[in-house]
Amino acid sequence: MGVLGRFMVGITKCMPRFFVAGVARRYVAGKDIASAVSVMKKLTGEGVCFTIDVLGEEISNLDEAQFFIDEYDRVLDAIVKNNLDANLSIKPTAFGLLIDEKKAYENIERLLRNAMENDIFVRLDMEDFRVTQPTIDIVIAMHAKGLRNVGTVLQSRLFRTSSDIDAVCDELSGYADFRICKGVYLEHESISHTGYHNIVDALNQHVDQILDRGAYAAIASHDWPIIEHSLAALEARGMGPGIGDSRDGCAGERTGKGPGYEFQMLLGVRGNIRRRLAKAGHRTRIYIPYGERWYEYSMRRLDENPDVAMHITKSIFMPWTNRR
Ligand code: FDA
Repeated sequence: MGVLGRFMVGITKCMPRFFVAGVARRYVAGKDIASAVSVMKKLTGEGVCFTIDVLGEEISNLDEAQFFIDEYDRVLDAIVKNNLDANLSIKPTAFGLLIDEKKAYENIERLLRNAMENDIFVRLDMEDFRVTQPTIDIVIAMHAKGLRNVGTVLQSRLFRTSSDIDAVCDELSGYADFRICKGVYLEHESISHTGYHNIVDALNQHVDQILDRGAYAAIASHDWPIIEHSLAALEARGMGPGIGDSRDGCAGERTGKGPGYEFQMLLGVRGNIRRRLAKAGHRTRIYIPYGERWYEYSMRRLDENPDVAMHITKSIFMPWTNRR
């Protein structure tokens, strides 16, 4: 996969922008919030909910953070005005985390307060290893200020994730709320698993651990062995659609959330599995990225993880492997 993946990345980069735009249309909800709203309205009939991401990340100066602050305000307005079942996903580096930590905290706190007024949850996406601890620290600091509408993402490929789950649960008890995923950044083998099976085993174990700690589990994967394991893990704990969350130490019902868990998938990826989960009554959330910077963003993702190029190529030439 490695060599072929890199080859596909090289080819994609040589393709004209209009061709890449045609492919990206499936995975990116458009250039502005109006396009994203229209995509979500179309998908609402499937019985799903959403998390909205304004494309972009690490900024080079603090003025650029203002763009994200303003745009996320527009997203909050759009959620309320259109009565959407949606929350936010943000990247802490887009709010200045790697430039001025104090300012980034202020920017994120302001957004959390605005979101809290409307009972809207904010997920801090997890970026590369440089910000793993700083991102977790933000969540703990915001909860200490009474802002309970925030949670983060943990990446199962990282060796540290099991201790991170315990550490966050020790601090926040039942209010801990994780999106658990494989991790898109291919980190060094000294800090992360690199083989597929090790990553899947780790993720399945993390799902169990999160559920056993009474925390909220947002299971973010399109990979059937993970979904299958998660369904069995939920059943074994008496959890599922329409069943109240009665685990020891859990925080109880949360606005916009499922009964202690939900499934999450990216826009445009494995719609058949997503629809099956939603139809069975599982809370199922679609990650909706939109923004002007879709091209730069897509190219960076491809550089970070050539597997993404392979997935996309496969879905073009073998559409049955990834239904919209
Ligand atoms: P896997 O990569 O094995 O994919 C299974 C199948 O799904 C593939 O065979 C393919 O058909 C399809 N597929 C998966 N990804 C695809 C793609 N991009 N395009 C087309 N088809 C694709 N990572 C991170 O580091 N920080 C984060 O904050 C997040 N946030 C996040 C939110 C949500 C809602 C999801 C679903 C994922 C993330 N991720 C993430 C990404 C995650 O870490 C991981 O890289 C991808 O989900 C791919 O891993 P899967 O478990 O889906 O399996």
